[in-house]
Amino acid sequence: MLNQAQAEQFQIEYLQPVEKREDAKSSWGQDIKEGLSQSPKTIPPKYFYDDQGSQLFEQICELPEYYPTRTEASILRKYAEEIVEITGICELVELGSGSSTKTRLLLDAYHQPNEVFKYMPIDVSAGILKESAIQLKQDYNSLEIKGLVGTYEQALTQLKPSAWPARMIFFLGSSIGNFSEAGYDNFLNKIAQVLENGDYFLLGIDLQKPKSTLEPAYNDSQGITAAFNLNMLTHLNNKFGGNFDVNNFKHQAIYNEERKQIEMYLLSEREQKISLEKLDLKVKLNKGEKILTEMSRKFNIEETRDKLESKKLKTIKVFTDENKWFALMLCQFSK
Ligand code: AVI
Repeated sequence: MLNQAQAEQFQIEYLQPVEKREDAKSSWGQDIKEGLSQSPKTIPPKYFYDDQGSQLFEQICELPEYYPTRTEASILRKYAEEIVEITGICELVELGSGSSTKTRLLLDAYHQPNEVFKYMPIDVSAGILKESAIQLKQDYNSLEIKGLVGTYEQALTQLKPSAWPARMIFFLGSSIGNFSEAGYDNFLNKIAQVLENGDYFLLGIDLQKPKSTLEPAYNDSQGITAAFNLNMLTHLNNKFGGNFDVNNFKHQAIYNEERKQIEMYLLSEREQKISLEKLDLKVKLNKGEKILTEMSRKFNIEETRDKLESKKLKTIKVFTDENKWFALMLCQFSK
């Protein structure tokens, strides 16, 4: 619970449910009905992120095997000043902000004492959004924070025009890799729709690399990724009155070299019947049947540059680490 003084330091707005017909399929619950009725069964990765899932994800980011977070942070540490020099002061909008830990590297560079600047973190987890807003307000006194609680599609359809000379939307951590090909395309269309001429988009992408580095990153020795994957079932139990027994499932993550993606599954260790009461859904799982919970696609810089270009997002600069494991693409929208 926030005290009065904390609550006055920043604004939090809950975004409206998406009503448009084309997006209705992906709204909460309906997408589970569809995913669990198809073969192979799937559950969209957005269901990882209840408050517990978001905490577990923060722990994943600290794991020795999970290289993306620290690699991206090292790139930001090295190049944040250069990014500010290119964009100048602008309104910063972060999609999927989580605890905003890496964001601090950017905020440090944008922060000028006594000059107000604006940061809009967007996340599905209200808890983590509030917690990080409290911390940020303590550390950056001239920061104006307006947090938005909702999904990317809600945010990108409901974001109001900026009052600042320019806006930079940033999407870090290679979360874009968790979209399907169609979802990726659709997401970039929405980014292009919401940006004005001259606005910026900063995108973090995890680059293609050998399986021997990729698979351990999703099968860590402490079992945190397994707990994160299984927590999705607890989240569904709580949200939709489900009866998943997590002890009947096992975490699995493999690299599909042909499709250049990590695929994360929950493997049913026995034949079982699941019901999700609030969705009026009953599902039978066979022993050994897998539910796909996440794809994490790995990228190539040139292909990504072309894709962005096709959406009028011109890559101004690519920042990468010495192993070329991860890249930050800084783009500018131009009609
Ligand atoms: C959020 N996203 C970019 C992570 C990834 O690497 O695809 C999610 C994750 N899943 C397991 N570990 C991390």
